Amino acid sequence: MGIFDWLNGATKNGTAPQAAQTTAKPAKAAHANGGDVKLEYTSESITTAMLSQLASTPDPRFKQIMEAAVRHLHAFAREVNLTPGEWIKGIDFLTRTGQACSPSRQEVILLSDTLGLSTLINTMHDKTAMEEATHSSLLGPFFREDPPKFKAGEQISQKDASDEVVLYGTVTNAKGKPLPNAIVSVWQTATDGRYDMQQEGGGMDCRGEFTTDADGKYLIRTVRPLFYSIPMDGPVGEMITAQKRHGNRPAHIHFLISAAGHREMVTALYIADDPHIMDDVVFGAHGDLIAAIKNNQPGCPVPGVNSIKFNFALSAESAADKLSGRVGADPSKIGATAH
Ligand code: BEZ
Ligand code: FE
Repeated sequence: MGIFDWLNGATKNGTAPQAAQTTAKPAKAAHANGGDVKLEYTSESITTAMLSQLASTPDPRFKQIMEAAVRHLHAFAREVNLTPGEWIKGIDFLTRTGQACSPSRQEVILLSDTLGLSTLINTMHDKTAMEEATHSSLLGPFFREDPPKFKAGEQISQKDASDEVVLYGTVTNAKGKPLPNAIVSVWQTATDGRYDMQQEGGGMDCRGEFTTDADGKYLIRTVRPLFYSIPMDGPVGEMITAQKRHGNRPAHIHFLISAAGHREMVTALYIADDPHIMDDVVFGAHGDLIAAIKNNQPGCPVPGVNSIKFNFALSAESAADKLSGRVGADPSKIGATAH
């Protein structure tokens, strides 16, 4: 018996059960139109019916994800007794969230970040590493592929390097062995608290790619990043405002680090003493990633400057890591076929 038969209340030989016609309560209201086919969804059976249609999905992981998504989505609608008017508002919000995306803006990632979903996924992903490594943090919506390449010690801020900060340290494996030739990609706001993508012209600035030396050391000159508000002029900003959240992120510097045979690391350093460390609107700040800018640190390769020293530890790479991807992407690469 297929799902359609089951909904019709038919028996194996195709005839409707007699009991259905002899119950005391009329099967249909007196004013009802339509034929005799018994096809009725209740607020519970619609979930079973939808899950039955998913049974034909060939890809087992896609099937598992969709089944759980449908169960939770339906349970959510039941829990809050969602009205048609409320859901159309949700549809309007989701539609505008998609429409706000462009090659330089990713409003859907912003939604995932502000709902804590990106950090949840990162936290679960960290737990699956073969070895304990430096914590991950959000890639965020301002990552761009193919940044300019720099030599050790070069300055990545092209417009204003007045408040210079030197970043230095070692990239190691989980046991502390230095990793030479690791690629260290870095990006951050300029001193005005804006990313290059938020500025006129759209050229790349305050981002770049470095390579660790034979001792696994990296050396980057940059500027002091500022805490800043996530983009509030779109639908996600409307949501944040309606929730009376401040919308700020603590000052931070993003890193994407890769080394052969090791799990790629997406993380960020958060500047100690920033006022928004404890209430980051996207939950990216993490205790282990808080780093102080110190003046004239002993051991800093550039004497007499403000600097951050931070060592990054990478886990060995598993076969699954090769397929796990990142929470986030260069906005110009998402939905690229639609642009
Ligand atoms: C950022 O790191 O810049 C960022 C991350 C998530 C949402 C918005 C901004
Ligand atoms: Fe950021």
